[in-house]
Amino acid sequence: MIFNGHTKLNTVIGYPLSHSKSPLLHNFIYRRLNINAVMLALENPKIGLLARIIKNFPSGLTCVTMPFKQAIMPFLDSIDERAKAIGAVNTVINKKGKLFGFNTDIDGIAFALRKVKPKNKTVLLLGAGGAARAAAYFLGKSGAKILYLNRTQSKALRLKKEFGGVVINPADLSRHQASVIINATSVGMNPKIFKTPFDKKYLKKGQVVFDVIYSSQPTRLLKEAKQAGATAISGMDMFIGQALRQIELYTGKKMDVIKLSKTARKILSR
Ligand code: ATR
Repeated sequence: MIFNGHTKLNTVIGYPLSHSKSPLLHNFIYRRLNINAVMLALENPKIGLLARIIKNFPSGLTCVTMPFKQAIMPFLDSIDERAKAIGAVNTVINKKGKLFGFNTDIDGIAFALRKVKPKNKTVLLLGAGGAARAAAYFLGKSGAKILYLNRTQSKALRLKKEFGGVVINPADLSRHQASVIINATSVGMNPKIFKTPFDKKYLKKGQVVFDVIYSSQPTRLLKEAKQAGATAISGMDMFIGQALRQIELYTGKKMDVIKLSKTARKILSR
């Protein structure tokens, strides 16, 4: 794609942003699909300033990352129901100066778990932060039996109240048989890649283990899952799935997610 007078600006906002792979992935997909836009990283600690920029500049599509997924919400003209239910926005679309908020993390999780049929399956969800809320929303809607385990139990109790399921303690792990395990904590993330949120003695053949962490692949948890004979799903799938949905919202066109995800994975793992 050659930039010209019609090239539109899209952005990712967050602080810090040096780790973000959104510009890499988006710009790759824009080139692939001949979308005349470019994504730039706007790194600033002031959400009010960033909100003014994306509204007025304008930024047609804005990816919202840490720590602004909640803080952006008061600046938006409209927020879709799913993003409201989760309490977090990761995507803002600017239509004629009005800001519309969405949460595509759910679509990313659905894409990552596309081969797993969560209905009636027991799913152990580790963590109770933003990523866990999106996962709990998806699992709740899919009819899974959710077991919540989080360092701070009060947060897990809140998730249970909103999305259904049962809160457990680490001591209960040997009694519960989960066929799917999802790590939605930040344990194992760069630079502490030697850490795992889950003792490998509980990993078993036939289980599905999905780690939402997309940097530093494979995580220790996924390595140990594979060694135990489980199916390992990386956070890269979620990252790609949520980005492609963002582009669908921006262009109004359906993406061939399976096909694009194959090349996107290569670009991201370089
Ligand atoms: P995100 O929005 O990416 O999900 P977050 O909202 O900060 O990030 O949530 C991080 C999750 O990782 C939380 O569930 C957190 O547990 P607490 O609720 O107890 O804070 C979990 N987490 C982070 N560091 C952890 C650690 N060292 N051990 C266990 N859990 C950890």
